[in-house]
Amino acid sequence: MKKLSVSLLVFMGSLILSSADISTPIIGILTQEVYTDGLISRHFENKTSYIAASYVKYLEGAGAQVVPIWIGRNRSYYEDLMQKINGVLLPGGSTWFNQTNGYGDAGEHLIQLAVELNDRGTFMPVWGTCLGMELLVYKLANGPEHRIDCKGKGIALPMEFKEDYAKSRLFATISDDIVDLMVKENVTYHWHQFCYTEEDFARDLLNETWRVISLNRDLNGVEFISTMEHLKYPFYGVQFHPEKPLYEFTKTSIPHSAAAVISGQFFADFIVSEARKSPNSFSNSTEEARTLIYNYKPEYTSILGSSFVQQYLFTNEEMGIEVPEIPDEGGDGEEGGSNYYPPYYDHNGGGASSIVPLVSGFLLTMLILAMN
Ligand SMILES: *[C@@H]1O[C@H](CO)[C@@H](O)[C@H](O)[C@H]1NC(C)=O
Ligand SMILES: *[C@@H]1O[C@H](CO)[C@@H](O)[C@H](O)[C@H]1NC(C)=O
Ligand SMILES: *[C@@H]1O[C@H](CO)[C@@H](O)[C@H](O)[C@H]1NC(C)=O
Ligand SMILES: *[C@@H]1O[C@H](CO)[C@@H](O)[C@H](O)[C@H]1NC(C)=O
Ligand SMILES: *[C@@H]1O[C@H](CO)[C@@H](O)[C@H](O)[C@H]1NC(C)=O
Ligand SMILES: *[C@@H]1O[C@H](CO)[C@@H](O)[C@H](O)[C@H]1NC(C)=O
Repeated sequence: MKKLSVSLLVFMGSLILSSADISTPIIGILTQEVYTDGLISRHFENKTSYIAASYVKYLEGAGAQVVPIWIGRNRSYYEDLMQKINGVLLPGGSTWFNQTNGYGDAGEHLIQLAVELNDRGTFMPVWGTCLGMELLVYKLANGPEHRIDCKGKGIALPMEFKEDYAKSRLFATISDDIVDLMVKENVTYHWHQFCYTEEDFARDLLNETWRVISLNRDLNGVEFISTMEHLKYPFYGVQFHPEKPLYEFTKTSIPHSAAAVISGQFFADFIVSEARKSPNSFSNSTEEARTLIYNYKPEYTSILGSSFVQQYLFTNEEMGIEVPEIPDEGGDGEEGGSNYYPPYYDHNGGGASSIVPLVSGFLLTMLILAMN
């Protein structure tokens, strides 16, 4: 009898909890600067920032809607937006953190504001993937660089959980079946030139604020942190790319096995379920509609040699800013895509890429004429 009433209470409690959740959270994805002489600048005029579309699909595929978060804006822009969205995703990419008005500066505002919101009792999750995880750690540690060089580009690895992984929030409710897949198969895709180690974390006591959940080894056998969560705040980081097995097809090294897809989806479902706990909303449906990512169209960029199948590209005008010129590529080296060029693409000149549409246009015209 007692057991029954306890489970009844738990059941009612869970109903109340779930009814407090919002069903369609809106998550902001931070944009990132493109390079002056990079692939995007060569092919698209005036586009100064981007979001890889795989991150958008990843959140949409778990039931969230997405808004782009602009780089280069002032504090009041980020303050305002953070009252309206239900979570933040800091994506991977290739830039330095010291770029004025770039990804690092914008990320700093977002991370500080997320801390303030959570301290004031408004739930605000932040998810960092790859460079995003690196930024989260870097900014919360107030700056010193803890990253070391890592040989982690283009490898698929299994999850190597630490013993007490089930004590984490991230894996508290994961099924044994999914854990089984994650540890036996190469489900996580790595593409990074930096990483954090447990030794770095212990040295500056980052181990007192972060729970390290899984580790992996790079191509040189260096052990690095691959999954972590903050002990106090709903902040999470993965060094690998859970969105790529689901939505990127530009490298043969990206795993697309059923196990890799189920695993990637697990992380998407988790971050979206966290965002459902955030009470924020836009002032009205018009403002929400004008802010959502649907106002922009992704471009098919892998055909031009990018390591992203599709990218959303933005101009300064769209972002409401002036972004300084960015001389060269840095950080975690994702944009360049130097490892993948379709055979017909000449990445030095871009000449071939302008001939392909010309030739196919000519052939199409001939075909239409022939049909008539
Ligand atoms: C790029 O910006 C320049 C200067 O504002 C403008 O003249 C040009 O039309 C823009 N190009 C595109 C494709 O929007
Ligand atoms: C921040 O930028 C907005 C335009 O994006 C402007 O209206 C506002 O005055 C600026 N605020 C500050 C404090 O500079
Ligand atoms: C940013 O940091 C990188 C790596 O430490 C360095 O090479 C670059 O010169 C720095 N850029 C600026 C503008 O300080
Ligand atoms: C995972 O990848 C490693 C290295 O490429 C390979 O040796 C191993 O067989 C793979 N494991 C599975 C289950 O596919
Ligand atoms: C963090 O690392 C330091 C130095 O190794 C150690 O003294 C401390 O007990 C560690 N803290 C936790 C929570 O593991
Ligand atoms: C919606 O909210 C925005 C921003 O607060 C405001 O400017 C606008 O007037 C509102 N529109 C309606 C229809 O209430």
